[in-house]
Amino acid sequence: MKIFLNGQPVEAACDKKLLAFLRDDMRLTSVKDGCSEGACGTCMVIVDGKAVKACTRKLSQLEGKDIITVEGLSEREKAVYVECFAEAGAVQCGFCIPGMVISAKALIDANPNPTRQEVKKAIQPNICRCTGYVKIEEAILNAARYLRENLPIPARQAAASLSHPFKRVDAGDKIMGKGIFADDLVFEGMIYAKALRSKYPRAMVNKIDISQAERHPDCVRILTAKDVPNNKIGHIVLDWDVMIPEGHETRYIGDAIALAGSRRKESLDEILSLIEVDYTELKPVTCPTDALKADAPLIHSKGNIMSKEYLKRGDADEAIRNSKYVVTKKYYTPFNDHAFMEPECAVALPVGADGLQLYTGGQSVYDEQREVSTMLGIPKENIRVTSMLVGGGFGGKEDMSVQHHAALMAWHTKLPVKVKFSRQESINCHTKRHAMEMEFTTACDEEGRLTAMKALLIADTGAYASLGGPVLQRACTHAAGPYNFQNIDILGMAVYTNNVVAGAYRGFGVTQSCFAMESNINLLAEKVGISPWEIRYKNAIRPGQVLPNGQIADPNCAMAETLEAVKEIYEAHPRAGIACGFKNSGKGVGLKDIGRCTLEVLNGKVRIRTSAACMGQGIATVCTQIVYETLGLDPALIIHETPDTVRTPDSGTSTASRQTVVTGEATRRASVKLKEALEGKTLEDLEGQEYYDEYFAETDPMGSPKEFPVSHVSYSYATQVVLLDEDGKVEKVVAAYDVGTPVNPRSVEGQIEGGVIMGLGFALTESFPIEGGYPKGKLGTLGIMRAPDAPPIEVLFTDVDREKLPYAYGAKGVGELCLIPTSPAAAHAYYRLDGKFRHSLPLKDTYYKRRNTI
Ligand code: FES
Ligand code: FES
Repeated sequence: MKIFLNGQPVEAACDKKLLAFLRDDMRLTSVKDGCSEGACGTCMVIVDGKAVKACTRKLSQLEGKDIITVEGLSEREKAVYVECFAEAGAVQCGFCIPGMVISAKALIDANPNPTRQEVKKAIQPNICRCTGYVKIEEAILNAARYLRENLPIPARQAAASLSHPFKRVDAGDKIMGKGIFADDLVFEGMIYAKALRSKYPRAMVNKIDISQAERHPDCVRILTAKDVPNNKIGHIVLDWDVMIPEGHETRYIGDAIALAGSRRKESLDEILSLIEVDYTELKPVTCPTDALKADAPLIHSKGNIMSKEYLKRGDADEAIRNSKYVVTKKYYTPFNDHAFMEPECAVALPVGADGLQLYTGGQSVYDEQREVSTMLGIPKENIRVTSMLVGGGFGGKEDMSVQHHAALMAWHTKLPVKVKFSRQESINCHTKRHAMEMEFTTACDEEGRLTAMKALLIADTGAYASLGGPVLQRACTHAAGPYNFQNIDILGMAVYTNNVVAGAYRGFGVTQSCFAMESNINLLAEKVGISPWEIRYKNAIRPGQVLPNGQIADPNCAMAETLEAVKEIYEAHPRAGIACGFKNSGKGVGLKDIGRCTLEVLNGKVRIRTSAACMGQGIATVCTQIVYETLGLDPALIIHETPDTVRTPDSGTSTASRQTVVTGEATRRASVKLKEALEGKTLEDLEGQEYYDEYFAETDPMGSPKEFPVSHVSYSYATQVVLLDEDGKVEKVVAAYDVGTPVNPRSVEGQIEGGVIMGLGFALTESFPIEGGYPKGKLGTLGIMRAPDAPPIEVLFTDVDREKLPYAYGAKGVGELCLIPTSPAAAHAYYRLDGKFRHSLPLKDTYYKRRNTI
């Protein structure tokens, strides 16, 4: 077969999918494999002038056709798309971006002056999980203008000051598809590995027969639990089996039974089909209510309650008895998939007799190193973990998924091994947002002053602990919202079931409890006879007041200002819904929470070394701007290195909206040291010198006897307003934020826009159906919002007095708060539209559900 690829004739010896040909044979890294099933658009190419998904065509259908990938754009086009996407802040994780550029080119070639609606339509096949599409649309409109009007490309930015929209340091490579993700790596002699997953959510594994599979000509090795030195791993609790041994029960459909290594990835499924497993199927436990019954089977030997939280301050019962108005309601929020665009992938290489080099795309190289070393029973130092680009995470790449299996196979075979999840494996195996059942009682006095709340939260944590304990804890610690009252009584339980594992997911439990609390507040406002805005403003926490968890609000707290920013728009619109939220930056509650940074002067440049993972949120750019702010060096002289356990100091996991604060402050401190050293000297004088510092975000533990414990070093605050048109379509979202100093306002806006769309998806369109322990969704049916449904989003920032914030030049985290208030704000908007009070997600009987097209 012959095609023309980027203007050159190329021949293929055998028929295969165009995507496989471009990636595996032509080694084109701009064409991404986000699903291989036609749902995501990351593989978009141009075929004879039309944008086409490369995973949906075989070479035999393309004989003689002209195929263009991002690599084949003209130099002018490349320069324009890099400029416009970077300038707009349209790039986060970058995994979707080359596909977006292709859809843009196909549109602009045919229509040099498109409208925004035409742009939305053109990128409808392309999912972006990070950006919320707003900035991508702006980038495409701008690219069309540059090309149409033949505008010159501006000179590169010579300043990277704080609060300045400096272009992301990784934008160019991501836009052009040159940035390397783990699946782009190929090594000589590399084999492929894949796990056989359990046939049943709960079953006894009686016997595993691998003999036939071992005889397959492509099979290199089959491993089972017998081959794992330490079979239990886990992010916090060591309860997760690397593989289920004979004589043990499976706990969910994603449990690995055996691991096959093959010379050819195309043979993996065939080899796995030859493994014979004798199961005794058992009735799965599919909801916490059943799991809590006295006669429920034990999913783990210690019992089905994975963790419990009880928070009490004041006397909620007494305060409720004495309150004028009381509301009690039950709420339900479902499982939800992160649906990051890059499916999980890791490559492991043997090093010496007992060592490994692991290339991954997770949320912490040091966590990966720790868990793999636990599994293999070898010193951590024997395992070097290097992060490649991370194509989105949102909490879903904190646990081991592929890394440990790649490491295990490489350790046994002494060969390079790649493990890559198909999109369906990713959906079935990785952690989800916890489904929660909640009962909230909220009370206020006759003027609408909150007096007390009681809550019961039951979280379905699925088969393994993952981060379920801290997620439940945050759901509880934030359940009372960003308000000034003191009587709380909150009980939470995370319960094991045979459902998919639930773990960290952007919002970390607060997304769920905020939905319940904010919805109750609207009902209280109704009883009092004041507006939902007013009840919030009356109670909003202000500097010096005490949060329900006992922490005194910082002098910089601007919760009330976020409400002031939206007052007019909310009160003027008859179908506006409002909700507030707050979220901690940093792990807090007495945990060890340290950011570390080394600055090295090398070849006349300053190299920033931290292990803070960038899953798209832009920590590399944050650190670059902090170094610039301190030193005032030309940004071209500041290089940010990729996380690597040998080169970069441990800055912990990218979780809990912590990296901007914790690693940002460590970077600031290290840069102050370098600044001192630079006095009277040049970078050349300091060649080879290193400047290290760290920041320990010290907090008080849960249950601290202190009257006013510091649970977290800082909180960000927000109010969101969702506006509906008369048909119930979201016409706009206004999001007002106190994030301290927005280090890069365009990046922070991008985080908020992406979070709002993710939040609207959670509220309106997404679902993760699971029946009897079997997930039923595919990427194309999860209901992820696409560009045509993404409304305009207006982001507002409150003023900040940097002096009042003692770290990272006054910056606070935003990664999670961006979607926390969205679902209650949407629910409230529909309540105002049709008077129906909705207490579960996704919201029923809305424009989106009636339309039934998502
Ligand atoms: S990889 Fe082709 S559409 Fe997802
Ligand atoms: S930037 Fe679009 S998926 Fe991450």
